[in-house]
Amino acid sequence: MEDTILVTGGAGFIGSNFILRQLAQDPSSILNLDKLTYAGNLRNLDAIAGDRRYEFVHGDIGDRPLVRRLLQDRAPRGVVHFAAESHVDRSIRGPDDFIRTNVDGTFALLEEVRAHYESLPELARRAFRFLHVSTDEVYGSLESADAPFSESTPYAPNSPYAASKAASDHLVRAYHHTYGLPTLTTNCSNNYGPFQFPEKLIPLVILNARDRKPLPVYGDGQNVRDWLYVEDHCAAIATVLANGRVGETYNIGGWNEKRNLDIVQLICDLLDEIEGRSGAPRRELISFVRDRPGHDRRYAMDASKIERELGWHPRETFETGIRKTVHWYLQNATWAKDVTSGSYRQWIETHYSS
Ligand code: NAD
Ligand code: DAU
Repeated sequence: MEDTILVTGGAGFIGSNFILRQLAQDPSSILNLDKLTYAGNLRNLDAIAGDRRYEFVHGDIGDRPLVRRLLQDRAPRGVVHFAAESHVDRSIRGPDDFIRTNVDGTFALLEEVRAHYESLPELARRAFRFLHVSTDEVYGSLESADAPFSESTPYAPNSPYAASKAASDHLVRAYHHTYGLPTLTTNCSNNYGPFQFPEKLIPLVILNARDRKPLPVYGDGQNVRDWLYVEDHCAAIATVLANGRVGETYNIGGWNEKRNLDIVQLICDLLDEIEGRSGAPRRELISFVRDRPGHDRRYAMDASKIERELGWHPRETFETGIRKTVHWYLQNATWAKDVTSGSYRQWIETHYSS
């Protein structure tokens, strides 16, 4: 494969959206390395299964001989690193996998990529990029009057997930600073859209509201997140990969702060509107449950650097994006049924029973 990008974690929520978008908009080939954990689903990529520019490899980013072989054989011009354990609640119940993949796995990947980069001829080295996909959670929590997170906000991660992502960000930074690896880091706010695993707030609430099951809201429901439609995040990643300044970090966000309770109520109202109001209003399904330990109160992103320097702007408003997302989950009932069997049921029972 010529002109290839190695994507890690491309069978997950954002990675699969990125691959679908990239193949539609860019001539490069994609090599997708994914371990297929509970969160990875090859059905997300059904639409490109026959595309000769796409290849899937089942494997772990921590498997150094495998990564070495892929880099040698395919000589990608870049790596876009999505692979991670990504769910905060799971990191609280069992942080081991988060350290293993997000910290050790990223370290192993960086080591192999560095060796590969150093072996490249000058021209290929100039074009090579390692883009690390990270999160706003590394910056900690804001009070209601605080300014949004900027790229110079000090790191203050509060959950094992956030700490593991912060550690990986620091490693990426060090590999640029020390070894000259041409890295780019993106820190993004909460994503929503098609193919998100229904352990996360928005898809969980859509599917439960559809089925008239309880809608669990942690604590008082007043925690604030900054929501971005997943395609806008993928467009931002493509922009940074193409034009970002090497060694830099870019914050990505939707300028769209919402309280959790408002989001849950909005989804209830949308479903009442779309499905018809045969029973009681779905807002009556809302159930306030025990708060997440260490629950960050507010995230907000200042995305002015990527807007100013690279001309990226979110295209979707929350109102249009959430409507599309609700329709997607209603129209893809088989996808939802498949991913909510087996281990998913076990997670929901363990997590919400207490
Ligand atoms: P996800 O949990 O949906 O997908 C993660 C993917 O990584 C899965 O396909 C999984 O199989 C794969 N994976 C896990 N461990 C692996 C390993 N050791 N080797 C290879 N593959 C492995 O996650 P997501 O929501 O798509 O997030 C993708 C990235 O974006 C993560 O790095 C996350 O921290 C970051 N991020 C997510 C959000 C969000 O709102 N979801 C926001 C900002 C940043
Ligand atoms: O901010 C970016 C991060 O967004 C990403 O780095 C993470 O990978 C991603 O999972 C997401 O983290 P959050 O913890 O913010 O997302 P989650 O969907 O789990 O929760 C969103 C908010 O809703 C949060 O305040 C917790 C709350 N919540 C969540 C669930 C699952 C509830 O009130 N009830 C729930 O059942």
